[in-house]
Amino acid sequence: MGRHSLLALLLLSLLSVAVATAEFDDDDLLIRQVVSDGEDHLLNAEHHFSNFKTKFGKTYATREEHDYRFGVFKANLLRAKLHQNLDPSAAHGVTKFSDLTHSEFSQQFLGLKPLRLPADARKAPILPTNDLPTDFDWRDHGAVTPGSCGSCWSFSATGALEGAHFLSTGKLESLSEQQLVDCDHECDPEQYGACDSGCNGGLMTSAFEYTLKAGGLEREEDYPYTGTDRGPCKFDKSKIAASVSNFSVVSIDEDQIAANLVKNGPLAVGINAVFMQTYIGGVSCPFICTKRLDHGVLLVGYGSAGYAPIRFKEKPYWIIKNSWGQNWGDDGYYKICRGRNICGVDSMVSTVAAIHTSSE
Ligand SMILES: *[C@@H]1O[C@H](CO)[C@@H](O)[C@H](O)[C@H]1NC(C)=O
Repeated sequence: MGRHSLLALLLLSLLSVAVATAEFDDDDLLIRQVVSDGEDHLLNAEHHFSNFKTKFGKTYATREEHDYRFGVFKANLLRAKLHQNLDPSAAHGVTKFSDLTHSEFSQQFLGLKPLRLPADARKAPILPTNDLPTDFDWRDHGAVTPGSCGSCWSFSATGALEGAHFLSTGKLESLSEQQLVDCDHECDPEQYGACDSGCNGGLMTSAFEYTLKAGGLEREEDYPYTGTDRGPCKFDKSKIAASVSNFSVVSIDEDQIAANLVKNGPLAVGINAVFMQTYIGGVSCPFICTKRLDHGVLLVGYGSAGYAPIRFKEKPYWIIKNSWGQNWGDDGYYKICRGRNICGVDSMVSTVAAIHTSSE
């Protein structure tokens, strides 16, 4: 490599760090300090930890607990830095999960069962892909409810049904995750495939199967989210607000995924969430990421605009709605690059159709 190309490389990497930091430092200085080299991130760890506690309202019962969490926090600063190096087009840093070990994080916020298809899952028909829009986002077409939370799989399933229900009735209803968490576990593995079990994990296709068999889902307001596991099932058939007509599994082909998204509404997808614990913004496109799916999310659109200039130009991405609240990621959303099934995002995609139900 000649001197010029070395120089260009150096300039490029400097520039990309500058771009990555310039774009995100308006919020706070966390990223800049996390990505900068040397010891300052450790020297500043105390300062960051104190900001973190204030920002996310964290308190710890004992001095021991506090010190332990500070240790975890420091390890996560280093992990964020590693993620930043592996995933330079996104911004990684301190998030509300920075005091959790990865296994605590997985246990509390992930939970996707291995894929086993329920009896009524079909294969999505192959759709034409020649006149797909270049950019598309269901949020611009009113089919996505504002931020919500729930066990990931139930959130992903209700999100897809909310979109499908909107397409079939013109009405946007927020649907009950809690009904799925409480009621969708009395299943026969032989008949249904994987069983869903509340906060211990589930699967979107099994949630569609449950919803099909049960008759439908109630509204969020009628069966609100409590965040607790396995209360008694309080499903009231007379309050059904949306019903599943049929659902299918979409092939791994990215154009088919886009076509199904545009035609049928937001899609329920599985993903590996390892980079999501430290994600702050930008387009996540890690050089390496396992395809082991451990998280359920909602695919709502795709695009290529708004990408950081020069090195990351025109890299197309998926727009993903997550269930960790608006104070996580890009206002509750995650962007991940398209093109190579990154983190397994293309490998477990399902689509649902709703039937019109009148509950007035
Ligand atoms: C539902 O069934 C119809 C009719 O067979 C089919 O055209 C459509 O693609 C299916 N939709 C989904 C989401 O499975």
